[in-house]
Amino acid sequence: MNLLVIGGGGREHAIIKKLKENPTVETIYALPGNGGIAQDAVCVPSIGAKDIEKIVDFAKSHDTGFAVVAPDDPLALGCVDRLHEAGIPCFGPEAKAARIEASKVFAKNLMKKYGIPTARYEVFDDPAKALAYLRGGVSFPIVVKADGLALGKGVLIPQNLQEAEAAVKSIMEDKTFGDSGNEIVVEEFLTGPEVSVLAFTDGTAIVPMVSSMDHKRAGDGDTGLNTGGMGTVAPNPCYTPEIAAACMETIFLPTLSAMRAEGCPFKGCLYFGLMLTPGGPKVIEYNCRFGDPETQVVLPLLKTDLLTVMRAVENETLGDLTVEWHDGAAACVILASGGYPGGYEKGREISIPGDLPANVTVYHAGDMRTEDGKLVTSGGRVLGVTAAGDTLEAALKDAYAAAGRIDFKGMYMRHDIGQRALRALEG
Ligand code: AMP
Ligand code: GLY
Repeated sequence: MNLLVIGGGGREHAIIKKLKENPTVETIYALPGNGGIAQDAVCVPSIGAKDIEKIVDFAKSHDTGFAVVAPDDPLALGCVDRLHEAGIPCFGPEAKAARIEASKVFAKNLMKKYGIPTARYEVFDDPAKALAYLRGGVSFPIVVKADGLALGKGVLIPQNLQEAEAAVKSIMEDKTFGDSGNEIVVEEFLTGPEVSVLAFTDGTAIVPMVSSMDHKRAGDGDTGLNTGGMGTVAPNPCYTPEIAAACMETIFLPTLSAMRAEGCPFKGCLYFGLMLTPGGPKVIEYNCRFGDPETQVVLPLLKTDLLTVMRAVENETLGDLTVEWHDGAAACVILASGGYPGGYEKGREISIPGDLPANVTVYHAGDMRTEDGKLVTSGGRVLGVTAAGDTLEAALKDAYAAAGRIDFKGMYMRHDIGQRALRALEG
């Protein structure tokens, strides 16, 4: 069977490597893919993840048995809807369900209506009203979020009124995040450990994956700017079986039934960004897709065949399947271009040793091949170095040892991925 994977980052590379384990898979096409993904799939750099009509035409003309739409943009643009119309089975939510990520206002109103625990909030479409609210005696810090997709950067946490006024101006008036900032959510600042839980769901049945922990800030000790994620570990030691059971009852199942009741059942990977607050687990955000770089630590621990799980989601038979996981842990360290998440140089030649240990996988996120065959950087997050191990400590040691043997000019990484998780394990 031929497969299509939409996207071209480290997450897509992890999905492709896992799909390849299925012996019935013939060719995997990656649209657009990247330089490193080309080792595992046929990349089509001329078709971007947002070129919906080109994607559908390509799928029809390449005997596609199954398609996986991984990034948020094509999901929000209705890529799955269009592939379904063309008769192509696929993994991912239709546009109506993708609103759970694409509109924070939709997500917050859903949670309020169905009693799903989340931060208290107000919605504004008028900057004057937002400013009046903020000047009316709210407590700081407070959280200001652009409604729409903003590459993970649309969340600001002002510490005082002056910063809050600047946040409203930046999002709603200067349109720093474009039309994503036509509406904003202003919400209560919550505290506690953060946990990412990705879950397979066919709309009714839900199978949470191994939990994980992201590290979003660019610098060690959670300093610097927010990024797409600089490293991950799985499982997340803060997410105990008791907390998992509570989340299933108060968050996961209620979210699925809320989406069904709203006429937009969610099928695909639903990502719960949770905060374990003193008042219990609360939803910080939903994503309508696999996380990046969470996928790079979660999928290596999946024992059951990924294509089988994805087809059960599409066929709404997930409840009949037993999904199994490997014991142990995984850690991923992101190697980024100097300057990211701000401006950075591209075209730096990448050197990766050929003899990395078998428990280490390098996922390619932002690179390309030059005409003379060199692998060079082309993005901010360039590589994700994942190691699996019996313990988190062992996985981290091997991931960092491998990362230390990879090089490109200007490369940087965080040196403290997993340290908070290790401290939590020590109790
Ligand atoms: P998001 O893009 O919604 O995941 O937000 C980015 C980051 O901002 C989250 O990972 C949290 O660390 C932080 N954040 C978002 N909402 C809140 C909140 N209500 N309270 C505290 N921190 C938050
Ligand atoms: N790593 C966070 C995300 O994928 O949204």
